[in-house]
Amino acid sequence: MTVSLSTLEVIIREAGDIALSYFNDLQNLEISQKSPRDFVTAADVSVEKFLQAELGKHYPEYGFWGEESGQSNNQTKRWIVDPIDGTHSFAKGQYYWSISVALELDQELIVGAVFAPALNDYYCAEKGKGAFKNGKKIQVSNETDLGNSMIGTGFACLRSHLEDNNLERFCRIAQKTTGQRRLGSAAMDLCLVADGQLDAFWEQELNLYDIAAGALIVQEAGGTITDFKGNPGIYPKQILVSNGKILNELLTLM
Ligand code: IPD
Ligand code: CA
Ligand code: CA
Repeated sequence: MTVSLSTLEVIIREAGDIALSYFNDLQNLEISQKSPRDFVTAADVSVEKFLQAELGKHYPEYGFWGEESGQSNNQTKRWIVDPIDGTHSFAKGQYYWSISVALELDQELIVGAVFAPALNDYYCAEKGKGAFKNGKKIQVSNETDLGNSMIGTGFACLRSHLEDNNLERFCRIAQKTTGQRRLGSAAMDLCLVADGQLDAFWEQELNLYDIAAGALIVQEAGGTITDFKGNPGIYPKQILVSNGKILNELLTLM
Protein backbone atom coordinates (compact mmCIF):
# COMPACT_ATOMS: atom_id res chain seq x y z
CA MET A 1 0.00 0.00 0.00
CA THR A 2 1.64 3.25 -1.07
CA VAL A 3 1.03 6.39 0.95
CA SER A 4 0.01 9.56 -0.87
CA LEU A 5 2.10 12.46 0.47
CA SER A 6 -0.53 14.92 -0.72
CA THR A 7 -3.31 13.04 1.11
CA LEU A 8 -1.12 12.92 4.21
CA GLU A 9 -0.52 16.69 3.99
CA VAL A 10 -4.26 17.37 3.74
CA ILE A 11 -4.89 15.25 6.85
CA ILE A 12 -2.06 16.89 8.84
CA ARG A 13 -3.12 20.39 7.84
CA GLU A 14 -6.67 19.58 9.02
CA ALA A 15 -5.11 18.46 12.31
CA GLY A 16 -3.31 21.81 12.35
CA ASP A 17 -6.63 23.62 12.06
CA ILE A 18 -7.91 21.70 15.09
CA ALA A 19 -4.77 22.61 17.05
CA LEU A 20 -5.11 26.28 16.06
CA SER A 21 -8.74 26.35 17.23
CA TYR A 22 -7.43 25.62 20.75
CA PHE A 23 -4.36 27.84 20.29
CA ASN A 24 -6.65 30.78 19.53
CA ASP A 25 -8.67 30.16 22.69
CA LEU A 26 -5.97 29.55 25.29
CA GLN A 27 -7.90 31.11 28.14
CA ASN A 28 -10.24 28.10 27.94
CA LEU A 29 -7.55 25.47 27.30
CA GLU A 30 -7.79 22.45 29.61
CA ILE A 31 -4.29 21.48 30.73
CA SER A 32 -3.08 18.79 33.09
CA GLN A 33 0.18 17.17 34.17
CA LYS A 34 1.03 13.63 33.07
CA SER A 35 4.01 13.74 35.38
CA PRO A 36 6.21 16.46 36.91
CA ARG A 37 7.33 18.84 34.13
CA ASP A 38 5.19 17.07 31.52
CA PHE A 39 1.94 18.69 30.40
CA VAL A 40 -0.94 17.45 28.22
CA THR A 41 -3.82 19.61 26.97
CA ALA A 42 -7.21 18.99 25.39
CA ALA A 43 -5.57 20.02 22.10
CA ASP A 44 -3.02 17.18 22.27
CA VAL A 45 -5.79 14.64 22.84
CA SER A 46 -8.14 16.08 20.20
CA VAL A 47 -5.44 16.29 17.51
CA GLU A 48 -4.28 12.74 18.21
CA LYS A 49 -7.85 11.35 18.08
CA PHE A 50 -8.38 13.08 14.71
CA LEU A 51 -5.11 11.77 13.26
CA GLN A 52 -5.75 8.22 14.47
CA ALA A 53 -9.24 8.22 12.93
CA GLU A 54 -8.21 9.78 9.60
CA LEU A 55 -5.03 7.70 9.13
CA GLY A 56 -6.99 4.59 10.10
CA LYS A 57 -9.67 5.41 7.51
CA HIS A 58 -7.17 5.93 4.68
CA TYR A 59 -4.66 3.24 5.68
CA PRO A 60 -6.56 0.60 7.74
CA GLU A 61 -3.77 -1.97 7.53
CA TYR A 62 -1.33 0.21 9.46
CA GLY A 63 -1.29 0.39 13.25
CA PHE A 64 -0.88 3.52 15.36
CA TRP A 65 1.39 4.71 18.17
CA GLY A 66 0.47 8.09 19.59
CA GLU A 67 2.07 9.85 22.53
CA GLU A 68 -1.26 10.27 24.32
CA SER A 69 -3.17 7.07 23.39
CA GLY A 70 -0.28 4.59 23.21
CA GLN A 71 0.13 1.69 20.79
CA SER A 72 -2.81 0.08 18.98
CA ASN A 73 -3.12 -2.65 16.35
CA ASN A 74 -0.26 -3.51 13.96
CA GLN A 75 3.05 -2.38 15.48
CA THR A 76 5.27 -3.67 12.66
CA LYS A 77 3.61 -1.33 10.14
CA ARG A 78 2.55 1.75 12.06
CA TRP A 79 2.07 5.50 12.21
CA ILE A 80 4.18 7.14 14.94
CA VAL A 81 2.54 10.37 16.05
CA ASP A 82 3.25 13.25 18.41
CA PRO A 83 0.06 15.31 18.12
CA ILE A 84 1.63 18.43 19.60
CA ASP A 85 5.39 18.50 20.12
CA GLY A 86 6.14 21.48 22.32
CA THR A 87 2.98 21.38 24.42
CA HIS A 88 4.36 23.78 27.03
CA SER A 89 5.19 26.34 24.32
CA PHE A 90 1.72 25.80 22.81
CA ALA A 91 0.01 26.40 26.16
CA LYS A 92 2.02 29.61 26.68
CA GLY A 93 0.91 30.98 23.30
CA GLN A 94 4.33 30.66 21.66
CA TYR A 95 4.54 29.78 17.94
CA TYR A 96 7.19 27.08 18.15
CA TRP A 97 5.27 23.78 18.36
CA SER A 98 4.51 21.12 15.77
CA ILE A 99 2.54 18.06 14.71
CA SER A 100 4.84 15.10 13.97
CA VAL A 101 3.74 12.09 11.90
CA ALA A 102 5.98 9.24 10.69
CA LEU A 103 5.26 5.96 8.93
CA GLU A 104 7.46 3.04 10.03
CA LEU A 105 7.30 -0.22 8.07
CA ASP A 106 9.18 -3.21 9.51
CA GLN A 107 11.39 -0.94 11.66
CA GLU A 108 12.28 1.34 8.72
CA LEU A 109 11.14 4.95 8.57
CA ILE A 110 9.50 5.47 5.18
CA VAL A 111 7.64 8.80 5.46
CA GLY A 112 8.01 11.73 7.86
CA ALA A 113 6.07 14.99 8.17
CA VAL A 114 6.40 17.82 10.72
CA PHE A 115 3.93 20.69 10.50
CA ALA A 116 4.15 23.95 12.49
CA PRO A 117 0.62 25.39 12.16
CA ALA A 118 1.37 28.73 13.86
CA LEU A 119 4.26 29.28 11.40
CA ASN A 120 2.53 27.52 8.46
CA ASP A 121 5.73 25.56 7.79
CA TYR A 122 5.33 22.00 6.52
CA TYR A 123 8.41 19.75 6.41
CA CYS A 124 8.26 16.30 4.85
CA ALA A 125 10.42 13.50 3.48
CA GLU A 126 10.00 10.10 1.86
CA LYS A 127 12.88 7.62 2.16
CA GLY A 128 15.30 8.03 -0.72
CA LYS A 129 13.42 10.98 -2.24
CA GLY A 130 14.80 14.04 -0.42
CA ALA A 131 13.47 16.46 2.20
CA PHE A 132 11.18 19.42 1.57
CA LYS A 133 9.91 22.54 3.35
CA ASN A 134 6.69 24.00 1.94
CA GLY A 135 7.33 22.07 -1.29
CA LYS A 136 10.93 23.28 -1.79
CA LYS A 137 13.88 20.90 -1.46
CA ILE A 138 16.03 21.55 1.64
CA GLN A 139 19.49 20.49 2.78
CA VAL A 140 21.71 20.83 5.82
CA SER A 141 24.04 23.84 6.23
CA ASN A 142 27.56 24.17 4.82
CA GLU A 143 29.04 25.43 8.10
CA THR A 144 32.42 23.75 8.65
CA ASP A 145 33.62 25.77 11.66
CA LEU A 146 32.12 24.76 15.01
CA GLY A 147 33.17 28.16 16.35
CA ASN A 148 30.81 29.86 13.89
CA SER A 149 27.97 27.35 14.32
CA MET A 150 24.49 27.59 15.83
CA ILE A 151 23.49 24.52 17.83
CA GLY A 152 20.21 23.47 19.48
CA THR A 153 19.44 21.22 22.41
CA GLY A 154 16.75 20.40 24.97
CA PHE A 155 16.45 19.27 28.56
CA ALA A 156 13.97 16.37 28.58
CA CYS A 157 16.54 14.69 30.81
CA LEU A 158 15.72 17.14 33.64
CA ARG A 159 12.39 15.31 34.05
CA SER A 160 14.18 12.07 34.73
CA HIS A 161 16.57 13.54 37.33
CA LEU A 162 19.45 11.84 35.53
CA GLU A 163 22.97 12.44 36.83
CA ASP A 164 23.90 13.48 33.29
CA ASN A 165 21.36 16.31 32.96
CA ASN A 166 22.94 17.94 29.88
CA LEU A 167 23.76 21.17 31.71
CA GLU A 168 27.54 20.63 31.87
CA ARG A 169 27.55 19.42 28.22
CA PHE A 170 25.57 22.50 27.16
CA CYS A 171 27.98 24.88 28.92
CA ARG A 172 31.00 23.07 27.43
CA ILE A 173 29.63 23.29 23.89
CA ALA A 174 28.16 26.79 24.26
CA GLN A 175 31.66 28.14 24.93
CA LYS A 176 32.85 26.69 21.60
CA THR A 177 29.96 27.89 19.41
CA THR A 178 28.50 31.25 18.36
CA GLY A 179 24.75 30.53 18.72
CA GLN A 180 22.81 28.30 21.11
CA ARG A 181 19.04 27.67 21.01
CA ARG A 182 16.58 25.74 23.21
CA LEU A 183 13.45 26.20 21.14
CA GLY A 184 11.07 23.70 22.79
CA SER A 185 10.01 21.29 20.03
CA ALA A 186 12.49 18.52 19.29
CA ALA A 187 10.58 17.56 16.12
CA MET A 188 11.02 21.12 14.82
CA ASP A 189 14.65 21.32 16.00
CA LEU A 190 15.44 18.34 13.75
CA CYS A 191 13.74 20.08 10.81
CA LEU A 192 15.80 23.23 11.43
CA VAL A 193 18.97 21.14 11.08
CA ALA A 194 17.56 19.69 7.82
CA ASP A 195 16.84 23.23 6.61
CA GLY A 196 20.25 24.63 7.60
CA GLN A 197 18.78 26.94 10.25
CA LEU A 198 20.68 24.99 12.92
CA ASP A 199 24.03 23.28 12.30
CA ALA A 200 23.45 20.57 14.91
CA PHE A 201 20.98 19.47 17.59
CA TRP A 202 21.22 16.97 20.41
CA GLU A 203 18.98 15.82 23.27
CA GLN A 204 18.65 12.91 25.71
CA GLU A 205 15.63 11.04 27.08
CA LEU A 206 13.30 11.70 24.17
CA ASN A 207 10.83 9.18 22.77
CA LEU A 208 10.60 7.81 19.25
CA TYR A 209 7.40 9.80 18.61
CA ASP A 210 9.31 13.06 19.31
CA ILE A 211 11.95 12.35 16.66
CA ALA A 212 10.83 9.72 14.11
CA ALA A 213 9.57 12.14 11.44
CA GLY A 214 12.29 14.73 12.03
CA ALA A 215 15.02 12.08 11.91
CA LEU A 216 13.96 10.95 8.42
CA ILE A 217 13.75 14.59 7.28
CA VAL A 218 17.31 15.28 8.52
CA GLN A 219 18.58 12.06 6.89
CA GLU A 220 16.98 12.96 3.55
CA ALA A 221 18.46 16.48 3.79
CA GLY A 222 21.99 15.03 3.99
CA GLY A 223 22.45 15.23 7.75
CA THR A 224 24.07 12.75 10.16
CA ILE A 225 22.17 10.95 12.92
CA THR A 226 24.19 9.31 15.70
CA ASP A 227 24.40 8.83 19.43
CA PHE A 228 26.79 10.95 21.48
CA LYS A 229 29.69 8.60 20.59
CA GLY A 230 29.09 8.90 16.85
CA ASN A 231 27.43 5.51 16.37
CA PRO A 232 25.09 5.89 13.36
CA GLY A 233 21.38 5.33 14.07
CA ILE A 234 18.28 6.80 15.70
CA TYR A 235 18.60 6.70 19.48
CA PRO A 236 15.73 8.59 21.18
CA LYS A 237 17.53 8.46 24.52
CA GLN A 238 20.66 10.03 23.05
CA ILE A 239 20.16 11.69 19.66
CA LEU A 240 22.73 13.91 17.92
CA VAL A 241 22.01 15.26 14.44
CA SER A 242 24.35 17.52 12.45
CA ASN A 243 25.24 18.86 9.03
CA GLY A 244 28.08 16.27 9.06
CA LYS A 245 30.78 18.92 8.61
CA ILE A 246 31.08 19.81 12.32
CA LEU A 247 30.30 16.32 13.67
CA ASN A 248 33.83 15.16 14.50
CA GLU A 249 34.70 18.34 16.41
CA LEU A 250 31.32 18.24 18.18
CA LEU A 251 31.81 14.62 19.23
CA THR A 252 34.97 15.57 21.12
CA LEU A 253 32.81 17.83 23.31
CA MET A 254 29.77 15.56 23.83
C1 IPD B 1 8.75 17.92 24.21
C2 IPD B 1 9.52 18.73 23.20
C3 IPD B 1 10.73 19.38 23.85
C4 IPD B 1 11.62 18.33 24.50
C5 IPD B 1 10.80 17.58 25.52
C6 IPD B 1 9.64 16.88 24.84
P1 IPD B 1 6.17 17.37 24.18
O1 IPD B 1 7.67 17.26 23.60
O2 IPD B 1 9.93 17.89 22.15
O3 IPD B 1 11.52 20.05 22.89
O4 IPD B 1 12.72 18.94 25.11
O5 IPD B 1 11.57 16.63 26.14
O6 IPD B 1 8.87 16.15 25.79
O7 IPD B 1 6.22 16.77 25.55
O8 IPD B 1 5.80 18.80 24.20
O9 IPD B 1 5.40 16.53 23.20
CA1 CA C 1 7.10 15.47 22.05
CA1 CA D 1 3.53 15.80 22.62
